[in-house]
Amino acid sequence: MIAAAESLSRSPSEPVDAPLILALPKGRILKALGPVLERTGLFEDGSAIGEGTRSLRFPTLDPNIDVVRVRSFDVATFVAHGGAQIGVCGADVLMEFDYPDIYAPLDLGIGGCRISIARPVGEGTHDTTAASSHIRVATKYPTITRRHFAARGVNAEIVHLHGAMELAPTLDMASVIVDLVDTGSTLKANGLRETDVIAHVTSRLIVNRVALKTRPEAIRALIERFRNALQENAA
Ligand code: PRP
Repeated sequence: MIAAAESLSRSPSEPVDAPLILALPKGRILKALGPVLERTGLFEDGSAIGEGTRSLRFPTLDPNIDVVRVRSFDVATFVAHGGAQIGVCGADVLMEFDYPDIYAPLDLGIGGCRISIARPVGEGTHDTTAASSHIRVATKYPTITRRHFAARGVNAEIVHLHGAMELAPTLDMASVIVDLVDTGSTLKANGLRETDVIAHVTSRLIVNRVALKTRPEAIRALIERFRNALQENAA
């Protein structure tokens, strides 16, 4: 967690005429976000941001806003540390990190999926938590996983992976996984089935709380741009 005092001591040195930095995630969220980004007027082709280059920072059609393209799991960290003032990330990432410096004013309603528990097909249909007070779980969500199982009286031993956790049960590294499920095809292709939904997830617009105090007009205007773009997109 970032101490509030640490962020506050850094922010006054931020030049207020510098472009706002908007952190966007690579991958599936960016694809879904493309049409919304186009309606904000920031990009002509919102889902192709940064394609064909190794650069990570890009200008937008608004000279006061630059974009950085980062891993979806890192968007919240860039915003919480003040590297970006605003960003888009999944509610799963917010749940995992629970940064006090982040305010999430807008549910974008895109990137819908769920954080679920999955286990090998063919194993008993009993509830995942019923059999034992201890379980080994492969996941990129150690905090969410520990909290979920602890609330059910189960001690979750975490095998912390950053991807391909679907392999862990068949390789005897864990008995279950906790991961994002969208279509379910990754689970199916790896001999797993979803047994419990921990949380439903959509993407959120997130803001650094200190930046909202130091640059309220610019940030509120950008939030409004996203709000209007969403409404137009839904119409
Ligand atoms: C997520 C998740 C699963 C997959 C599920 O990974 O970790 O592997 O998507 O999607 P499905 O239910 O539609 O098959 P993602 O593609 O986001 O990449 P990551 O491994 O980098 O997190």
